Amino acid sequence: MKKLTILIAGDKGQLGGELFAQLSLQNFELLRGSDYGLDITCRDACLCLLDKLSPDIIINAAAYTAVDHAEANQEQAFLVNGESPKTLAQWCQQHSCYLIHISTDYVFSGTKPLYRTYCEADPVDPVSVYGQSKLQGENHIAAIMTDGYAVLRTAWLYGFYGNNFLKTMLKLTLANPEKEFKVVNDQYGSPTSTIALSHQILLLVNKRAAGEKVSGVFHATSDDYCSWYEFACEFFQLMNVKHHFLPCSTQEYPTAATRPTNSILENKHLNALNINSFVDWRKDLCRYVNQHGEQLLNDLKQ
Ligand SMILES: NC(=O)c1ccc[n+]([C@@H]2O[C@H](COP(=O)([O-])OP(=O)(O)OC[C@H]3O[C@@H](n4cnc5c(N)ncnc54)[C@H](OP(=O)(O)O)[C@@H]3O)[C@@H](O)[C@H]2O)c1
Repeated sequence: MKKLTILIAGDKGQLGGELFAQLSLQNFELLRGSDYGLDITCRDACLCLLDKLSPDIIINAAAYTAVDHAEANQEQAFLVNGESPKTLAQWCQQHSCYLIHISTDYVFSGTKPLYRTYCEADPVDPVSVYGQSKLQGENHIAAIMTDGYAVLRTAWLYGFYGNNFLKTMLKLTLANPEKEFKVVNDQYGSPTSTIALSHQILLLVNKRAAGEKVSGVFHATSDDYCSWYEFACEFFQLMNVKHHFLPCSTQEYPTAATRPTNSILENKHLNALNINSFVDWRKDLCRYVNQHGEQLLNDLKQ
């Protein structure tokens, strides 16, 4: 039987890096966009490359993810997050290629009373340029593709590759062990490990390989929720690193982009199809520390 050809766009990012590591363990023809100079904003070159590579599945983990910078760089954010998914969707629709596209909790305003969850049917209303640009990408895909796509809205990603909130806090703390750091304690979400999300993506890939139709928008985050402050404290406790974090409000920690207060998503569609592979975020965090904790410390000491 012919191996499925899977192209990962954004394979050098934190999710893309983990996806490549996880999918390499499987029996696929795996292509990294970066090996071919894939730039999803260059429409003609991108279409040409897709014709040449002819993937059965594209996983789009490429994005403009600098949430605060996006406020002043609207054009670039909309080009990468809004327009480029359109190019991928058009090619996928024409060539019966399954498109797995990663989106975000930031498509919601986050004004729902805490701690009620957002499901896929809830109205979207992004409050940042990043969120608006990601929503435009989602809308293009839904308008172009009849079926054969999965838009996965995830949140609060962390993993071994690239940068994330936990690595930043660890770096700051190790450089200034006695310093007090304020951490936001009134925004809530579900920390999601890139390994857990990669496993969920693999499950969708296998469904596709088995000829099952899984299509639409899916919330894809770990179970249960916390604030950024609680997330940081849990991580440092597992890492056994002393810290001096002070819980603070969003108002005390102003950023260029407005962030949703309530970012708690419910994986309603995955659950309805009985294919939700996520577990409690604390369990995944524990695995992350067991697997990578020592290396994280060593990397920062160098
Ligand atoms: N990080 C989070 O907490 C979070 C939360 C919710 C949703 N998401 C979504 O999850 C997905 C993965 O995020 P991530 O954290 O892995 O992001 P990331 O680490 O910033 O990786 C994004 C990757 O996309 C690449 N890229 C940017 N523009 C490109 C282009 N024009 N063509 C090809 N590649 C391009 C980047 O390459 P360069 O570095 O060379 O630009 C980078 O390797 C994104 O869709 C993001 O919106 C992330």
